[in-house]
Amino acid sequence: MRRDITLSAFCRRPAFKQGSKNVVGRRRPTTGATPVQSQVSRGEGTCENTARRYTEHQINCCSRVSVGRAAVVVTDARPRRQRRGFAPASRDQGPESAGTRRNAVAAAESARTRDRSRTEQDKMSRNRNRGDITMRIAIAGATGNIGSRTVAVLEQAGHEVVRISRSLGVDLITGNGLDAALTGVEAVLDATSYEAADREDAVASFGASTRNLLAAERRAGVRHHVLLSIVGIDRIEGGNAHYAGKREQERLVAEGPVPWTIVPVTQFHDFAATVTDWTEHDGVAEIPPLLVQPIAPDDVAGILAEITTSAPQGRYRDVAGPEPQDLVDMARRSNDARGHAVKLVPTWASLLGPEMAGDVLLPGDGARIAATTFDQWLTHAH
Ligand SMILES: NC(=O)c1ccc[n+]([C@@H]2O[C@H](COP(=O)([O-])OP(=O)(O)OC[C@H]3O[C@@H](n4cnc5c(N)ncnc54)[C@H](OP(=O)(O)O)[C@@H]3O)[C@@H](O)[C@H]2O)c1
Repeated sequence: MRRDITLSAFCRRPAFKQGSKNVVGRRRPTTGATPVQSQVSRGEGTCENTARRYTEHQINCCSRVSVGRAAVVVTDARPRRQRRGFAPASRDQGPESAGTRRNAVAAAESARTRDRSRTEQDKMSRNRNRGDITMRIAIAGATGNIGSRTVAVLEQAGHEVVRISRSLGVDLITGNGLDAALTGVEAVLDATSYEAADREDAVASFGASTRNLLAAERRAGVRHHVLLSIVGIDRIEGGNAHYAGKREQERLVAEGPVPWTIVPVTQFHDFAATVTDWTEHDGVAEIPPLLVQPIAPDDVAGILAEITTSAPQGRYRDVAGPEPQDLVDMARRSNDARGHAVKLVPTWASLLGPEMAGDVLLPGDGARIAATTFDQWLTHAH
């Protein structure tokens, strides 16, 4: 018989009904993140035009972006005042052509401005491809397992990251703080997760947060929404509450107003330890014998950082680790590695049912396979 608990099955923390005694909750360590930073520091000072769209911002006022500096190089060899039409090209040309000359100079200047703008855009796209351009990116769920790692990858690459989570003062379900957080943001990664009492609750939480986020993104002019999702949820009829919430999230993103990429990812390497913690009671943990192809959280973060700084791609191919694993075996090895003594009972009667059996959670054809094996991760993680 299924226990009287409803878990957000692929969320790191349990979602349980009030009074449930057979779930051991696990809080994440805090990451030491600072409150939402809506101010943009641009190296040589704080820019006054932070509300502008980033591209325009780079062209018009961002002193740190080399593209902006390169773009002011003018190939016209005449003196600067003359180029701008403040001085006649030559006294010899006489007064009769002053107006004509002014018009001609203005037309030439306008053409140069157009060329300059085109050159800047070309350079920007070239530099963006080389990773030279920094972007202002918001991470929703920035204190979470994947969100915090993605923040670190993006910041290391020089991007400005706005951190979004309730503990940092922004709540996606109520919408509090969201508009201020998205000021000047170009791309958003949604790596949030919600505890839910049941399927209806999960759909309501994922639905409300996604609607609020997309509406705020549209107001802010965000150009790319990236959603971290789960491989196989579209292949499962029914399934658990968390999957129902994630499917609702995917539907809203795909039908929403902001260009998007949905990234389906398999279970993380720490998933078996998490399931142990969710179900452990009196030294016994019930583990569903799932077939999974787990992926290292750091590999997920690296791939998400890459996708978030690229153009929208629609539904991305499945993303997975290199080897299939049995979840019970993973749990045993994870618990051994972390020195956690617990008896494991393989069963489909705990939090995940037989609808998850077979290869339903495995990646499809053409999947993107990350490098880190479960064994390598175990060695490094403990
Ligand atoms: N675990 C897996 O194996 C797996 C596999 C594939 C995909 N996924 C998906 O990956 C996503 C992220 O998982 P995770 O394990 O990294 O999650 P997590 O560690 O539980 O982090 C959840 C994040 O969401 C934030 N959050 C929760 N409620 C919020 C609200 N109302 N407003 C703003 N922020 C809120 C949390 O911060 P606060 O608490 O401070 O608000 C936290 O930063 C999930 O959607 C999950 O479905 C998981």
